[in-house]
Amino acid sequence: MNSFQSFFERYDINSAPFMHQMRQDYRRRKPFAGLTIAHNVPLTATTLLKVACLKASGASVTVTNPSFITESSVAREVLTYEGVQYAPLTELKGSFDFLLDCGAELIQQCQAMRGIVELTRTGAMRYEQLKNTDVPVVSVDDTRLKSLETCLGTGEGVYRAITELHREAIDNKKVLIFGFGKVGTGIAYYFAQKTPHINVVEMNPERLSLIESKGYQAISAELPLHVESAIKDADIIITATGIKNLLSLSYQKKWFKGKVLANAGAEDEFGFNFSKKDILADKKPVNFALEEPTLMPFLDPIFYAHNLAIEDILCDKTAGFRPLNRAQDQAIVQQWAYHHDWTLEQLNNTF
Ligand SMILES: NC(=O)c1ccc[n+]([C@@H]2O[C@H](COP(=O)([O-])OP(=O)(O)OC[C@H]3O[C@@H](n4cnc5c(N)ncnc54)[C@H](O)[C@@H]3O)[C@@H](O)[C@H]2O)c1
Repeated sequence: MNSFQSFFERYDINSAPFMHQMRQDYRRRKPFAGLTIAHNVPLTATTLLKVACLKASGASVTVTNPSFITESSVAREVLTYEGVQYAPLTELKGSFDFLLDCGAELIQQCQAMRGIVELTRTGAMRYEQLKNTDVPVVSVDDTRLKSLETCLGTGEGVYRAITELHREAIDNKKVLIFGFGKVGTGIAYYFAQKTPHINVVEMNPERLSLIESKGYQAISAELPLHVESAIKDADIIITATGIKNLLSLSYQKKWFKGKVLANAGAEDEFGFNFSKKDILADKKPVNFALEEPTLMPFLDPIFYAHNLAIEDILCDKTAGFRPLNRAQDQAIVQQWAYHHDWTLEQLNNTF
């Protein structure tokens, strides 16, 4: 039978150094002994390490799963085996000392007596709009360490998915990316390891300059003839703007014929003119076609920060919304770079 330990063996200290260190430290210190925690993060094999750390801390944890994703049945079995309580989101109610949330879903049905920690941008925006919160609300999205997951982790996952689904070498292919935000930046980084032909369409003038400063070809979305020619010239086209239907609304479908098409955004960015079979992974965010859309080394620091923010709140009980403190954010980025053989300069040059 799989246990937490089996997953700490699957994701060893090289792949999840933060989780390994946190479990060891929390076993010794029991920093959350006697506290109750509701935990709403996509329930996958990787999340089990995060939950194991909370259990080791002495807290009583109730795990649930966000509404927008299907939970892993294996992960559910492990929770049962480990004696960790599980409740479907619709049934989770009542008061907890801490809510560890994703997408601000818990606040609709649970009360936080000491604090809330939010993982995502959407959730952080919702919590920020709440007036008169009488507990601290810490966002781990408003941090630099989040880019390790969103930029590098998603970029690597999108690259890995396209190479696996396309089954042809990427070397020297002409890649066109729409959007140079956090996700587009990571995608460009990973494809640039294989081909010098990276073209990026952007709206934002500052992002256009940034694209050029990295040695990629920048194309303004406000110059439709330039975009048309870049589309016709590309071998692989990837969307990462976050805008639904963008390509159907702005460009002609015939220009995309014979190209490898993939969407990285949460919305269907190719849109109504394109059928599921036109786009890799049936139009879903392409990395979600993989068993592990984001690899453990990129999830490890954000999982760590999401748990660690409880300690931040226990030290600073000021009510209201705030990001995770900068010192902790910087320390985590530094340690991540050290563990994974990046220099800080390389990270700074990438995002
Ligand atoms: N696949 C995944 O695992 C994954 C992970 C995280 C986020 N996402 C999704 O990826 C999408 C992008 O996220 P992000 O964090 O990079 O967003 P972002 O806001 O940081 O970046 C989007 C970029 O697109 C640019 N843009 C806007 N309109 C454009 C246009 N018409 N043409 C070209 N560029 C345009 C913006 O200027 C911006 O720089 C979102 O849908 C997000 O939910 C997916």
